[in-house]
Amino acid sequence: MNPVFKYPNFDYAALDTPTPYYIIDRALIRRNMAILQDVQDRTGCRILLALKAFSTWGVFDEISPYVAGVTCSSLNEARLGKDHFGPGKEIHVYSPAYSMNEMIELCKIADHIVFNSLAQWKAFRGVVENAGRKIEVGLRINPEYSEVGLEIYNPCTTRSRFGVRLEGLVDAGPGALDGIDGFHFHTMCQQGSDVLQRTLEVVCERFERYFDRVKWINFGGGHHITRMGYDVNRLCTIVNDFQAKHGLDVILEPGETHVIHTGFLVSTVLDVIENPNGIDVVILDTSAAAHMPDVLEMPYTPEILGARRNVEDCDAPLEEGRFKYIVGSKTCLSGDIIGEYMFPYPLKIGDRLTLEDMSQYTTCKNTTFNGIQLPSIVSCDSDVEGGRFYVHRRFDYEDFRNRLS
Ligand SMILES: Cc1ncc(COP(=O)(O)O)c(C=O)c1O
Repeated sequence: MNPVFKYPNFDYAALDTPTPYYIIDRALIRRNMAILQDVQDRTGCRILLALKAFSTWGVFDEISPYVAGVTCSSLNEARLGKDHFGPGKEIHVYSPAYSMNEMIELCKIADHIVFNSLAQWKAFRGVVENAGRKIEVGLRINPEYSEVGLEIYNPCTTRSRFGVRLEGLVDAGPGALDGIDGFHFHTMCQQGSDVLQRTLEVVCERFERYFDRVKWINFGGGHHITRMGYDVNRLCTIVNDFQAKHGLDVILEPGETHVIHTGFLVSTVLDVIENPNGIDVVILDTSAAAHMPDVLEMPYTPEILGARRNVEDCDAPLEEGRFKYIVGSKTCLSGDIIGEYMFPYPLKIGDRLTLEDMSQYTTCKNTTFNGIQLPSIVSCDSDVEGGRFYVHRRFDYEDFRNRLS
């Protein structure tokens, strides 16, 4: 089991630069990479970084040496991987559907292309096979089993558009897998190796009859391998047993796990509003909707360094020496609220708050809703004297304007 995780004693809000800014700690990425490297050493499996979760290329140099490559959801991500992930790294692509223009370009740079349906494979087989270079071809399968409770993150609902179900393969007949080198499934979200074990049982029960037709299988993403308490030994046993039994190479393509607990969003209190009907409200120079959309989409309440999430009844009396606030955003959306917190001191205008665990699904997913300023992107290294702060990017009016016309 991964040990209890603690953030280093390091002041991420100390940088003399305007907020808001995302700050990524290279030392914490290295901690995660050591775990992923260990899994690969013990199993021989290949781990990829899913760029949809984290594509902040300024710190790819901390990830790239430890993983086999990237997995991409689009031509743009594939180009980014090719340009910035480093020479010799594998470029894998999966999308629910491709256009012809996209496929022609992908065939120039992708090493693995995974198709979502037999119809898509049929449509693009000629392009792939005439690319002039060997491209590994995968087919996404849908085992119709997922333990993800939230419908929005469950790829195996009855309405799912992801992957070929067993019935579809059986109906397609014996030639259906001609030209296919591997299988791909993705059914998990922020889950442990126990879930993988149960999922694999179903995958094998349904699709084992086809395993002798392919060379590799990609177990998708959603594996929270670097999380505190994750059972890495069990993952290694599962992968080793599977490879030994079926003779297939295993690929994992998580995104989050490379960067969980590595990033922060530093923001400034712009106002504190007294609320005669309840809890006082703080307005930050950031936004859940624009800068950390999963807070509203999942939804969840991020931790803030030095504060405690208030999970108690709003009307509960305040503990001695505690100050309770609703922390809200600076957009017009009424529900753009980050959460309710207890602070050990009263907040005032100008205070900086450091929101935790803000690397994944933030920089790659943010927007300029309301014209709100995009947070700068900063890296640091808490292992190095002075912290080696580096501002990679500041955004301005031009960035806002250039996305529009
Ligand atoms: C096909 C596929 N692979 C990989 C991932 C990465 O998942 P995560 O970032 O949860 O590990 C996703 C996420 O949605 C996905 O859809």
